[in-house]
Amino acid sequence: MITIKIAGKKEIQILSKKLLSLLEDKNSQIYHENVTKFGIPEEYVKKAFAEDTLLKAILKGKSTFYLVLDDGEIIGFAQIIQHDTKTVELDRIIIFPKYAGRGIGTQLLQKIIQQQEQKGVNNIIVKTGKEEKRARQFYEKNSFKQLGEETVDTPWGKRLTIVIYQLHLNE
Ligand SMILES: CC(C)(COP(=O)(O)OP(=O)(O)OC[C@H]1O[C@@H](n2cnc3c(N)ncnc32)[C@H](O)[C@@H]1OP(=O)(O)O)[C@@H](O)C(=O)NCCC(=O)NCCS
Repeated sequence: MITIKIAGKKEIQILSKKLLSLLEDKNSQIYHENVTKFGIPEEYVKKAFAEDTLLKAILKGKSTFYLVLDDGEIIGFAQIIQHDTKTVELDRIIIFPKYAGRGIGTQLLQKIIQQQEQKGVNNIIVKTGKEEKRARQFYEKNSFKQLGEETVDTPWGKRLTIVIYQLHLNE
């Protein structure tokens, strides 16, 4: 059974271990989709998903991690960052490849929208690579509207064109 919950400290530890172990296989789809494709160096990935980094994101970065569990096993997650009382950013959303394309990402996104709406948030923004057709379709299908584009210099020294989407809530 699929359940969605907000991660506590203990679950962050499990999430970090799971991500780092999945990303050990450099030939895997998840490594390709999230790392190789963007030219991200390995050290950067390891640091980004280290337990310490994720915990700091909660404590200092105003992040919340939502986990998707299938009979207790993590099969995906999302990270949101609170910008202010009215605006959150969906920083990451990943459904592990084996489970993708079955409506689970939509389920997770809808749960986040519902919870944020209840908290009085009225704006969700998300940034994704211009070339990320699947992610863009996913957001558009879920009623996100395109706000604009920008070219950014990533921390690992690559230029990337990103598209910014927004979803208005409480309308
Ligand atoms: C993007 C992602 C979170 C979507 O989750 P998901 O569970 O696969 O999505 P769903 O099954 O709920 O699909 C919803 C819609 O997304 C789009 N979509 C999903 N998979 C797709 C694919 N392989 N190709 C094109 N569009 C796709 C479709 O519009 C789909 O609607 P449809 O099923 O009616 O055609 C997931 O595929 C993923 O983790 N991808 C890799 C990481 C990523 O790109 N994350 C987002 C940027 S951080």
